[in-house]
Amino acid sequence: MQIITAPAKLQRQCLTWRREGLTIGLVPTMGFFHDGHLALMERARPLCDKLVVSLFVNPTQFGENEDLDKYPHDLDGDTAKAWSKGVDLLFAPEAGAMYAQDHATWINVPALGEHLCGAARPGHFQGVCTVVTKLFMLTQANLAVFGQKDWQQFAILRRMVRDLNIPVELIGHEIVREKDGLAMSSRNAYLTETERASAPAIRKGLLKTADKVRSGMRNVDDIKRFLHDEFAAALPMGEVDYAEIVDPDDIVPLKEVTGPALLAVAVRLGKARLIDNLLLEG
Ligand code: PAJ
Repeated sequence: MQIITAPAKLQRQCLTWRREGLTIGLVPTMGFFHDGHLALMERARPLCDKLVVSLFVNPTQFGENEDLDKYPHDLDGDTAKAWSKGVDLLFAPEAGAMYAQDHATWINVPALGEHLCGAARPGHFQGVCTVVTKLFMLTQANLAVFGQKDWQQFAILRRMVRDLNIPVELIGHEIVREKDGLAMSSRNAYLTETERASAPAIRKGLLKTADKVRSGMRNVDDIKRFLHDEFAAALPMGEVDYAEIVDPDDIVPLKEVTGPALLAVAVRLGKARLIDNLLLEG
């Protein structure tokens, strides 16, 4: 497995592969790998000749009071895990190598970023779109795999790729969970033992709400009230950042559940902000 830190060197290597007729798969990450990240690598591995994983804690997608400085890292552990999944190239640029001092070009998909994490984290998706486009240009990827835990991120990137005719196929992978249902996240490392013990209530609340919808509750205000009550009872120390029901493609709030609908939540638990979602089939 090659480890490359210089963006220009990565691009040279990937252009060479493409000239040789090889296909390239990309899994973009911010590191501190868990089984969710590794599942994306496993998914991509048989679909391409050369598998590139990027590991970059992208500063432009973090707000001023967010956890950029505290984001967990373990380059040696991540290197071993990527190697064990048959990754050909790990791209781990130094902070600063990805953005010129006078970087001035940004990519935005505002219509899909008005709600959920887009509303809660201004500027976040502009940073994501810009860095992912840079990664597509650097790696010349034929395909890239993203997790559906970050559903809105995937919806935005899909729209960006379509609108800008970027020649990459995007693949969405289902959410990988701990045995007790908690969605895996690098940020779970911030949880204290007590917080970790109560965190599965997020998934349980979503499942109970889906049951309610299945048994006929269709009005979004009613559904949201039900979910808020569930969280208030089962997760009293959690602070709900948002709990919304949106169109799964356009990410705009719905009033009634009459077809596919995405139930998406972000909950603050101590130092961690945890997100999860569930697709309601109307
Ligand atoms: P990061 O949070 O490291 O996630 C990297 C990829 O792993 C994303 O596609 C994310 O959706 C996926 N992922 C994380 N947890 C998952 C889980 N439990 N199950 C399935 N997939 C999971 O998302 C980012 O980094 C960044 O925004 C990035 C796209 C790399 C741009 O900087």
